[in-house]
Amino acid sequence: MASPLFILLMLQAFLVSTSVSSTVSFSLNQTETLLKWKTSLDNQSQSFLSSWVGDRPCRWVGIACNKAKRIISISIHDYGLRGTIHGLNFFAFPDLMQLNLSNNSLHGTIPSHIVKLSKLTYLVLSYNNFSGNIPFEGT
Ligand SMILES: *[C@@H]1O[C@H](CO)[C@@H](O)[C@H](O)[C@H]1NC(C)=O
Ligand SMILES: *[C@@H]1O[C@H](CO)[C@@H](O)[C@H](O)[C@H]1NC(C)=O
Ligand SMILES: *[C@@H]1O[C@H](CO)[C@@H](O)[C@H](O)[C@H]1NC(C)=O
Ligand SMILES: *[C@@H]1O[C@H](CO)[C@@H](O)[C@H](O)[C@H]1NC(C)=O
Ligand SMILES: *[C@@H]1O[C@H](CO)[C@@H](O)[C@H](O)[C@H]1NC(C)=O
Repeated sequence: MASPLFILLMLQAFLVSTSVSSTVSFSLNQTETLLKWKTSLDNQSQSFLSSWVGDRPCRWVGIACNKAKRIISISIHDYGLRGTIHGLNFFAFPDLMQLNLSNNSLHGTIPSHIVKLSKLTYLVLSYNNFSGNIPFEGT
């Protein structure tokens, strides 16, 4: 269950980025979000993620789910992935507990909305080329 705050933040993000529509859905599709991110990576990285096809992400390499088939872990380390994580919309993974992207060749900034992952207890982004600030939940 998304918290009211979470919903509110998504609502605000949506209102800013699009003109208002009453038919908007606020739950992002976790499968489509991962596939979209995959296409943002270079060809070799995409070939490392060759199991990432179809609509059963719980069976994909590096992905683990809970019984409700919601993704709780994304662990793709030591893969040599090249690209950014700008296209990885973490609002699609409200149950995410673990994110390990260690030892790839990812660059760019870490999206600030990563701090909205309230269940995240394990985050490893080491051995990449990320730049900029590490987001934190300011008060
Ligand atoms: C990536 O693959 C696509 C289609 O397979 C090809 O058109 C493109 O040139 C490739 N890009 C690189 C950088 O190899
Ligand atoms: C998410 O997207 C996939 C692929 O487009 C689709 O098969 C699936 O039914 C969608 N899931 C939900 C919950 O909408
Ligand atoms: C990173 O991954 C490569 C294999 O892709 C491995 O050879 C190397 O030891 C790893 N480096 C670290 C710091 O884990
Ligand atoms: C995270 O990735 C590193 C490799 O860089 C690995 O040593 C570590 O075991 C991974 N942690 C988990 C929990 O998978
Ligand atoms: C990071 O960037 C530097 C300079 O561009 C490069 O030498 C290095 O190999 C990169 N490291 C990784 C892990 O991609």
